[in-house]
Amino acid sequence: MEGTDVDDGAHIHAGRLGAAGGRAATRFTASIGFDQRLFRQDIAGSRAHARMLGRVGLLAEGEVAALLGGLDRVEAEFAAGTFPIRPEDEDIHLNIERRLAELVGPVAGKLHTARSRNDQVALDMHLWVKAACADVRRGARALQGALLQQAEAAADVLAPAYTHLQHAQPILFAHHLLAYFFMLERDRARLADCARRADVSPLGAAALAGTTHPVDPASVAAELGLGGTYANSMDAVSDRDFVIELVAALSILMVHTSRLGEELVLWSSREFGFVEPDDAFATGSSIMPQKKNPDVAELARGKSGRVFGHLMGLLAVMKGLPLAYHSDMQEDKEACFDAVDTALAVTYALAGMVTTLRLRPGRMEAALAGDFSGATDVADALVRRGVPFREAHAVVGALVRLCVESGREPEQLPPGELAALHPTLDADVVAVMAPRAVVAARRSPGGTAPERVAEELGLARRLLAAEG
Ligand code: ARG
Repeated sequence: MEGTDVDDGAHIHAGRLGAAGGRAATRFTASIGFDQRLFRQDIAGSRAHARMLGRVGLLAEGEVAALLGGLDRVEAEFAAGTFPIRPEDEDIHLNIERRLAELVGPVAGKLHTARSRNDQVALDMHLWVKAACADVRRGARALQGALLQQAEAAADVLAPAYTHLQHAQPILFAHHLLAYFFMLERDRARLADCARRADVSPLGAAALAGTTHPVDPASVAAELGLGGTYANSMDAVSDRDFVIELVAALSILMVHTSRLGEELVLWSSREFGFVEPDDAFATGSSIMPQKKNPDVAELARGKSGRVFGHLMGLLAVMKGLPLAYHSDMQEDKEACFDAVDTALAVTYALAGMVTTLRLRPGRMEAALAGDFSGATDVADALVRRGVPFREAHAVVGALVRLCVESGREPEQLPPGELAALHPTLDADVVAVMAPRAVVAARRSPGGTAPERVAEELGLARRLLAAEG
């Protein structure tokens, strides 16, 4: 549309406005450049509206048939890529209405009976958002499937887990991957919840106050597969909560995918070396021949920013708008569309990267050597021998310090040196530090012990299967 010279001609606002006024601003006010993505929803809404107008006697049977036939042709033109988009017709609604008139003649002018673009565009967005929730749920599910597959492959691989990015305690690497699985499960639940609130039809609100015609909005909602109608017509045309809610849910999803992206970047580094991305999910450098960069993970991390930005943008657009409709609300579309496109791109790209990731269990287990990450377990063992936890904590702290300063492993300390630190400290106690023993001992619910992780894997499999 950019750079096109716009000829306003005879047009929808021609009754009230002179053509010149329209021509000057059209390029600025038009949304057709981006809202053409709503064509399917707009046609579906118009079909349901036309049928309802027929049912309540506002249109004759033949008129309904003519409109439906015309809408079929419009849809076919979109499918074939031959629909003539005219920028001067502002938006998807007016473009379709104009084309319908070209195809079926004056009866097209009856379609907008008892309807405004205000309830029409809101309906389109409800339908679009509802479908988008399902699409992104599928994307999240694909990533969950990839994580589950790797977790199963890594079921007995040990790795360090971190707090403050310092070695904290050993875990099963599967436990780490499954943490993301369950984050994504919440994202899918949030999207399902968002879809429930989007599942309502604003049609019948017309401009904002309802209509003088004997419409039947509930039947339109039912025909469109929507759960109900609004109780208040002003709320119906001015509500964009469901768009904000979608982008908010996507933002939380992007927090999760960006954290996973960051971990994949770290794990791919020479320092960690825990994973190696498949060549298909990495790129080289234009100058450094040796480079293999984890771009997909970096962009999964980086693209979160635009989704957060869209959430802020939407909140700012809606904040302080008096009721009911304002053109400001036209700004919801690009934000919403781009947030969804981004979430889909990120979830599927990460799913591909995770699926093809080569794990390096040897590197993970080697990273645990000499890291004292079983120290908590030595303290716990002293507690079982009757030592108060705080005292045990100090004793084991001193043990670690002695080892670090003398360059030895705890198991290399002779019994005398252990006993000097505390009378209850002996080789049996020190043995509980072995990473596999530390992991096996964490049998608390949701812990990293192999039998607990097996439960997690089972639950994860069931959750995915439940949505086959
Ligand atoms: N293009 C508009 C939008 O996206 C459609 C609704 C326009 N309504 C109006 N009265 N100008 O919000």
